[in-house]
Amino acid sequence: MKIVISLGGSLLYPLNEEYIRLVANFIKTCKEELYIVTGGGKIAREYIKMARKFGAGEQYLDKIGIAVTRINAMLLASFFKKRIPCTIGAASKMVPPVIMGGTTPGHSTDAVAAMLARKVKADLLIIATDVDGIYDKDPKKYRDARLYKKIHVNELLRLAGGGWRKAGENVIVDAIACRVIKRARIKSIVLNGSNLKQLENAIYGKQFIGTEIII
Ligand code: UTP
Repeated sequence: MKIVISLGGSLLYPLNEEYIRLVANFIKTCKEELYIVTGGGKIAREYIKMARKFGAGEQYLDKIGIAVTRINAMLLASFFKKRIPCTIGAASKMVPPVIMGGTTPGHSTDAVAAMLARKVKADLLIIATDVDGIYDKDPKKYRDARLYKKIHVNELLRLAGGGWRKAGENVIVDAIACRVIKRARIKSIVLNGSNLKQLENAIYGKQFIGTEIII
């Protein structure tokens, strides 16, 4: 099976050596063809916020974000002595496991993961984040937030708003990613990546805690 995993930057930074080692080991021992796209997380947003104060334009800010996602990819790729591709085309030609960060301005790494899943005809796209899935409201702010077991991609699109708004913006799954998932009919799941058992359960069709995106 081909599996693309969007690994949220929040899982990697602040640098968590134990977790990064576990992920590397998971990648090494997994029998499936894995493609991992690392996010930028809080550190990307901090750089973007400051550069925005300094007057940088949106494209430039996105490029700062991309640089951070690539640093995260390079860190994880150090275990594999492999270069990280910078484009979907290059990634699709490599032998898995493939680890990469962002590509071009105008979207998040979730969108990169969705585009890569479309390109390699992946069996599954997993969006791994630091909460258990998609909620009706922010679970970090509201204790009574309800986790969706399933959500229709159109509802997700509505939550994500029209398109790409600004660099570092923190939406659940950005609209570009939603559209790719919808058009290419990619089987997609959002779950908590800090629990690798959940990731494994999702890959092997077992019960898992998370949200399935209905197309
Ligand atoms: P992320 O994918 O980390 O964005 O990229 P995010 O929405 O903050 O995701 P989480 O929190 O890790 O899940 C960080 C920023 O880098 C730019 C965007 O500005 C994005 O907000 N970026 C990233 C791009 O412009 N293109 C890419 O391909 C990737």
